[in-house]
Order: sequence, then C-alpha cells, then structure tokens
Amino acid sequence: MGEPTITGTGSGGGMGEPVSAELGEVPQTALWTLYHRALEARRPDALLVDPKAVELVDRIDFPFERVFGAGGGLQAQLQALRVGCFDREVADFLLRCPRGTVVCLGEGLETQFWRVDNGRANWLTVDLPEAVALRERLLPPGPRQRLLACSATDPRWMDEVDPAQGVLITAQGLLMYLRPAEVRQVIAGCAERFPGGSMVFDAVPRWFSRLAVQGRLRSQGYQAPPMPFGMDAAERPKLRTAHPGVAGVRDVLPQAGRGVLGALLPYLQALPVIAAKRPSVTVLDFATTTATTATTATATEAGASGS
Ligand SMILES: C[S@@+](CC[C@H](N)C(=O)[O-])C[C@H]1O[C@@H](n2cnc3c(N)ncnc32)[C@H](O)[C@@H]1O
Repeated sequence: MGEPTITGTGSGGGMGEPVSAELGEVPQTALWTLYHRALEARRPDALLVDPKAVELVDRIDFPFERVFGAGGGLQAQLQALRVGCFDREVADFLLRCPRGTVVCLGEGLETQFWRVDNGRANWLTVDLPEAVALRERLLPPGPRQRLLACSATDPRWMDEVDPAQGVLITAQGLLMYLRPAEVRQVIAGCAERFPGGSMVFDAVPRWFSRLAVQGRLRSQGYQAPPMPFGMDAAERPKLRTAHPGVAGVRDVLPQAGRGVLGALLPYLQALPVIAAKRPSVTVLDFATTTATTATTATATEAGASGS
C-alpha cells in the first residue's frame, strides 16, 4: 500500500444521492455488518438504535437482500449485542476521557460515532482505501472526525494519533481477517505506542475461523471470506504475552437479548463448554510505562487455526 492518505475537518454531510458500492471480498463485509445493524434497528423491539445505519442501507445502491439474504432475527440480534459491547466500552472511555481519541481500525461503515459521540471526542477511522473512499462519500467527516486510508497492519496510522487526552483503539469485526502474526503485531504496536491506552476487539473462536478458511461458512447463500485469526475465549490470558505493556485483559459480555435465546444468552455463556469456545469481545489495558520493549516471543499463541 502507498502513503496513507488522510481526510477530515469537513462539515459532515447529510443525505444525498444514491451511492453504488463495489467492494472487494473483505471490505464488502462492512456492508454485511451495516445491513444487519439496519435490520435490527428497523424492528419495533430493536436492541440497537441506529437510524444512520438504516439511512445508509436505503441510500447505498447494493442488492443487500439478494447477496446477504433476508436476515433479521437471530443474526441481527447477535450483531446488535456485539455492537452494544463496543458502544458501552467507548461510552465508558469518553466518561473517563471526554476529549480523548477513539481510533477505529477497520471501521467500514460503522455509525458508532452517531450513537455515542459526546460532542468533544476526536475520532480517527483507519481502513483500506476502497472502504475509506466509500465512507467518505456516505459519511463525510465532521470537524472532530478524520479518515485515514491505511492498513491497520501499517504502523504509520499511529503517527496520526494524538494520545494527550487518552486513546481507545477499537477493532470491531477486523482482527479475524488478519493473519495471527499480524494480530500480534497490531496488539504489540498499540501497547508500545499508546501506554495508558486501551484496545477493544472481538474475535471468532477457532472452530469458526477454521470453517471460514475452508470456505464452509455460508449463511443464506452468502459465503464469508476466510478468517485466518481465531481465538477461543479461554485462550484470552495468552494475549498478555503479545507485549509486556499488556497489563490487563478483560472479557466484555453482551447484555441479555430478545426472546428466549436472548434471555438465556448470559446463562449459556456461563456454561464452561460454551464459555471457552464462544465469540468474544476483549479489552486490553496498556501499562503507562513498560520495562522492556516488544517481545517477539510466541505472543498470542492463540489464533493460528488458519496458519
Ligand atoms: C466486518 S467489516 C467491520 C466493519 C465495522 N467495524 C463494523 O463492525 O461494522 C471489516 C472491516 O475491516 C476492514 N479491513 C480489513 N482488513 C483491513 C486492514 N488490513 N486494515 C484496515 N481495515 C481492514 C474492511 O475494509 C472492513 O471495513
């Protein structure tokens, strides 16, 4: 990838003409998550309030239903529950650091800014060039938002972050598409560059990663791209070995959802056999100072199902 390109300081536009979305296999997954958020938000009993997602799906010229299926129901609910974990973590961070910077790696068409912004925070989106180009057309950045066309694995995005008022890095729906060594490098790089900061990310379990790598992850006719990084929730403590600066590792559990399954979810997750193999959302807290520099040790030995 060439030089990272940054966009920002705009006024943040509103609705406009239809926009077509022709994205490669992995960037296209941002349309999948957007679609499921919008499906959930359209429900009268929605777990997620996200009118911006509904607006985008209406505006994007893309055959959502034909490509991703009718959806709704469980998938939309699970998506909303995952999003809720991230929204809570960002909202908590903004209470502690109201003028802090939220860095969203692989943000795609996430509309989180419009759900949790406090009017003072700074927001940096880091995504691949084609995803950033689409986001820029659909969600032009406002004065406190910047878009950076740069791979999350390219440490040059870190140069764009002002850590003075606190930093939270999010990687929602991203790390599964990276190779395990890249995940380790991203975590270690963040721990090294942002002492005192935190990172929140989700991971698919190894069995799920394996199915995706084998091309066997199909839902309503849509085949998900390979997901080389998988980590069982039970492997989470190994994340500390990514870098000596990883001082805290915390599990973020979804809140209870809708219907019988939604209500049972917190209890199901407590069953050892499910708890160890479920998708997970994790917060890493970075120490304010680190005694040593990054280790190249086996690091997250978790996450090699595709390698
Ligand atoms: C499943 S989507 C998630 C989008 C958004 N975070 C959400 O939850 O709706 C994956 C996103 O990761 C981005 N992505 C994939 N590989 C990336 C990389 N190496 N660097 C930055 N972004 C990447 C894709 O372009 C896409 O926007």
